[in-house]
Amino acid sequence: MSVTVQAVYDALAKVMSPGGTPLRDAGVLSEIVVNDGKVFFSINVEAAQAKVWERVREQADAAVKAIPGVSSAMIALTAERKAGAAPAAPPAARRPGIQSEASHRPPQSHASPMAKQAPIPGIGAIIAVASGKGGVGKSTTALNLALGLRDLGLRVGVLDADIYGPSMPKLTGIREKPVLNDAKKMIPISRFGLKIMSIGFLVEEETPMIWRGPMVMAAITQMLREVEWGALDVLVVDMPPGTGDAQLTLAPQVPVQGAVIVSTPQDLALIDARRGLAMFTRVNVPVLGIVENMSYFSCPHCGTRSDIFGHGGARHEAERLGVSFLGEVPLHMDIRATSDSGTPLVESSPDGAHAAIYRAIGGRIKDKLKITVPAS
Ligand SMILES: Nc1ncnc2c1ncn2[C@@H]1O[C@H](COP(=O)(O)OP(=O)(O)OP(=O)(O)O)[C@@H](O)[C@H]1O
Ligand SMILES: [Mg+2]
Repeated sequence: MSVTVQAVYDALAKVMSPGGTPLRDAGVLSEIVVNDGKVFFSINVEAAQAKVWERVREQADAAVKAIPGVSSAMIALTAERKAGAAPAAPPAARRPGIQSEASHRPPQSHASPMAKQAPIPGIGAIIAVASGKGGVGKSTTALNLALGLRDLGLRVGVLDADIYGPSMPKLTGIREKPVLNDAKKMIPISRFGLKIMSIGFLVEEETPMIWRGPMVMAAITQMLREVEWGALDVLVVDMPPGTGDAQLTLAPQVPVQGAVIVSTPQDLALIDARRGLAMFTRVNVPVLGIVENMSYFSCPHCGTRSDIFGHGGARHEAERLGVSFLGEVPLHMDIRATSDSGTPLVESSPDGAHAAIYRAIGGRIKDKLKITVPAS
C-alpha cells in the first residue's frame, strides 16, 4: 500500500503539541517526505522547549509508524535557538545556536549542555571522523580505525553519515538490506565483527539522493537512534565531507565525545582541516586529534618511504593548534585496493605494518576517551 503525505498529516492531527494544538497545525513541521513507505520530517522547536517536545516527537513517531504501509519513520527534533532568545544552555553560550564553552568537557559533566542530550542506550562513546575537504580518506580511515578498535577488544559500530555519497557499501562489500526488529528498529549489518549502518544499504546504488537541510539531520539522528545498535563501546561515525548541515547538526543532537580530523599533508588540505577543526570547536565537540593520511609514499616493492607530499605538515599543524597528532598513514596501493575490493586492510592483512598503524591510532583514541575493554 502506498503511503501519502496526506495520510501522514492526518496521523499528525491526532498528536497534540505541548500547547494543546494538533502537531499538524502547530507550525513546527518541516516538509514531509514520503519515499517508498519511509517517512522523513523534522519538528523544529526552540531549544528551551526541546525537552517537552521530545515526548511529542515520540508520539509522532508512533503515530506515523502505525499508518498502514509505513516501513520506517525518521522524525528528528531540531532545537534551534532563535536569534535573541534566551539561551537554553548555561550563560556562557557564545552566540545563538551554539553551546557554551562548558560543554567542551566530555559529556559526564552534568553542568554541560551536552549532558542534556539523551545518550544513545548501549553506546559508550561516539566519535566522528571528519575533514574539511573531500577525498582525503575519511571513510577508509573510519573503517580501518573501527577495525583497529575492534582488535583492541572493543565492541565497535560504524555509522556512515555520508548520506550524499555513502561509502560503506563499497568499502565493506555489504549488499544486503537491514531488516526491522519487532520494535520496528533497523538491525545494523554485522560484518568483520563490526555493526555497520549506512543509508547506502537502504537505497539502490544509482538512486540520486537529494536532501534538504532538516532532512539531513533527520536521516542521521534516526540512523543513530532508530537502529538497534545493541551494546557498543564505541560508534565510529564517518562524516560527509565539508562543514555543512551534517556536521553542524550532528553535535547538538547526539552526545559526540570527540572528533578525529583526517588531513593529507598538502597545505591546502590543512587549511581545510583547520576549517574542520574550527567547526567542531563551534559546536563544542572536543577534537581528539589529527590523522595524517596519505602521509608518505611507501613503495609496494621495496618498502622505501618517500615524502612525496612534503610529509609532516599535519603533525606541525596539530602542534601549532594545540591538538594531538594521532598518527600518519602512508599512501599505499594495498590500502586503496583493499578498500575497493570490500575487505578493508586491517581485516585482510591484520599482521601487516599498516594494520598496526590503525591499531595504534585506535589505541590513542581509546586512551584519550578512557574507554575500557569489556570483561568477556
Ligand atoms: N592511505 C591511503 N593509501 C592509498 N589510497 C588511499 C588511502 N586512503 C584513502 N585512499 C583512497 O583514496 C580514495 C578516497 O578515500 P575515501 O573514500 O576514504 O575518502 P573520503 O575522504 O571519505 O572521501 P569523500 O570525501 O568522498 O567521502 C579511495 O579510493 C581510497 O581507497
Ligand atoms: Mg567518505
